[in-house]
Amino acid sequence: MEETAKLIVDGKTYELPMVRGTEGERAVDISKLRDETGLITLDPGYPNTGACKSSITFMDGEQGILRYRGYPVEQLAERSTFVETAYLLINGELPSREELTRFSVLLNDHSLVHRDMLHFFDNFPRRAHPMGILSSMVNALRAFYPELPERSEEEEILVTFTRLISKIRTMAAISYKLSRGHEVIYPRPDLTYAANFLNMMFDSPVRPYEVDPDVAQALNVFWILHADHEQNCSTAAVRLVGSARVNLYAAISAGICALWGPLHGGANQAVVEMLEDIQENGGDPGPFIERAKDRQDPFRLMGFGHRVYKTYDPRAKIMKKMADRVLKKQKGSDPLLDIARRLEEVALEDPYFIDHHLYPNVDFYSGIVMRALGIPTNMFTVMFAIGRLPGWISQWKESMDDPGWRLQRPRQVYTGPNERDYIPMDKRK
Ligand code: SDX
Repeated sequence: MEETAKLIVDGKTYELPMVRGTEGERAVDISKLRDETGLITLDPGYPNTGACKSSITFMDGEQGILRYRGYPVEQLAERSTFVETAYLLINGELPSREELTRFSVLLNDHSLVHRDMLHFFDNFPRRAHPMGILSSMVNALRAFYPELPERSEEEEILVTFTRLISKIRTMAAISYKLSRGHEVIYPRPDLTYAANFLNMMFDSPVRPYEVDPDVAQALNVFWILHADHEQNCSTAAVRLVGSARVNLYAAISAGICALWGPLHGGANQAVVEMLEDIQENGGDPGPFIERAKDRQDPFRLMGFGHRVYKTYDPRAKIMKKMADRVLKKQKGSDPLLDIARRLEEVALEDPYFIDHHLYPNVDFYSGIVMRALGIPTNMFTVMFAIGRLPGWISQWKESMDDPGWRLQRPRQVYTGPNERDYIPMDKRK
C-alpha cells in the first residue's frame, strides 16, 4: 500500500505520495502539488527539499555516517586509493584489477594539457587566485575536446571523464608553478595519481623532489574524504547548470565556482587564515568564539557547523588524526594545530555550539594537513576541487542518465509591488 501524506487546504484534503529511500528516509513527493492544489512550497536554502533521488552517496547527519555507493568512507580511507574511489563513484562498483589498470592507463595517457593552453595560463596575473584559474581552464577544455553527445559510447564517456580527472591535477600544478615563476613540470608515467601531482608541484630542475610514500598516501586519503557529499552546494550547481544540457566542462566549472565560496569549499583556506589571526592575537581562541556567538557580528567560526551533520563530521575525525600523523612525519608540530585543538575543545563545551549542534567539519583540520604537505594556503580549495571532481562527474552522469531529469527551474513567492503604470520622467519626484 503506497504511503501518502495528507494536506488540508481551504477545507479540501489532498493525498500526496510518499517516497522511501533504501536507508528508510521518507519524502513527500510534491511533483504534482501545483497542478493539484495551485500551491508551491517555500524552502530558502533547501534544508527541507530533496532535489533528486540518488544512489551515489548516503549521509546521515545525526549519526555522522558517510558512505560512497554503500562503502563507509572510513573503510575507503583506510584501504582504498583515490583513483579506485573515483572509479567506484562514477561506475557504482569497485573496479576489477583489469578495470583499475585500464583506468590508470587512461589517467596517464590523458595527463598532459594541450600545448596551446599554456598560453592561457601565461596570461593570468601572477597573483590570480588558483580557483579562478582552475574554473576558467576547465571551461576552456571544451574548446580543445569534444563534448559528450546525447547517446555516447561507453568508451567515449570513460575517456571524457578520465581526461578531466587527470588534467585537473596537471592544470592545478601548472598554475602553482607559473605563479612562482617556475618551469612547468610534466606528469610522469611511472608515478601514481597522487605522487604525480606532488612531483608536478614540487619537483624542480635544480632540486629533484623525492615523493615520500606517506605523503602520497595522506593525499590519497585527503582526496577520498572529499570525493563526494551528496547534494552539497557545488554538486547542486553542477546538477543545476548541467540540467540546461550544457557540456560537462561548463557544468564542472560552475561547481568549481560554487566550491570557491568561504561558506563551502573555500572554508579550508578561511580556517587557516582564522587560526593565523588567533595566533597573531596571542593564541587565545576565546575572543573569536565570542564573536562567532554574537548575532550582530557576521563572523562565523570557520570549519564549524554543517547543513547536514549535526554531530562530528566523520571526515573531520579522520583528518584530525591524519594531521597528527603527517606532522610527526614531516616536521613535528604546527602551532596552528595546537590552536585548532584548543578552539575545538573550548567551542564543544560552549552551550551556544552545543545548542546549535556546531561541530568541526571536513574543513577544520584539512588546512593543517595541507600545510604539512607543503601546499600553499591559496591552493587549499583547489585541492578540495581535485578531490570532489569524481563526485561531481558521478552526480552529473546520474542526472544525465535519469529519464525523468528536467531543466532545474525553482519557483518563487513574489513580494514586490502590485501592477502599476509607467510614470513619465516629468511626473517623477
Ligand atoms: C563544506 O553541504 C556539504 O556537504 C558541504 C561540504 C561538502 O563536503 O561538500 O561538507 C563542505 O562546505 C563544509 C562547510 C564549510 N563551511 C564553513 O565551515 C563555514 C562556517 N560554517 C557556517 O557558515 C555554517 O555552519 C554552514 C554554512 C556550513 C551551514 O550553515 P546553515 O546550515 O545555513 O546554518 P545557518 O547559517 O542557518 O546557521 C544556523 C545557526 C545560526 O544561528 P541562529 O541564527 O539560528 O541562532 O547556527 C549558527 C548560525 O548563526 N551557526 C554558526 C556557525 N554555523 C552556523 N555560528 C557560528 N559559527 C558557525 N560556524
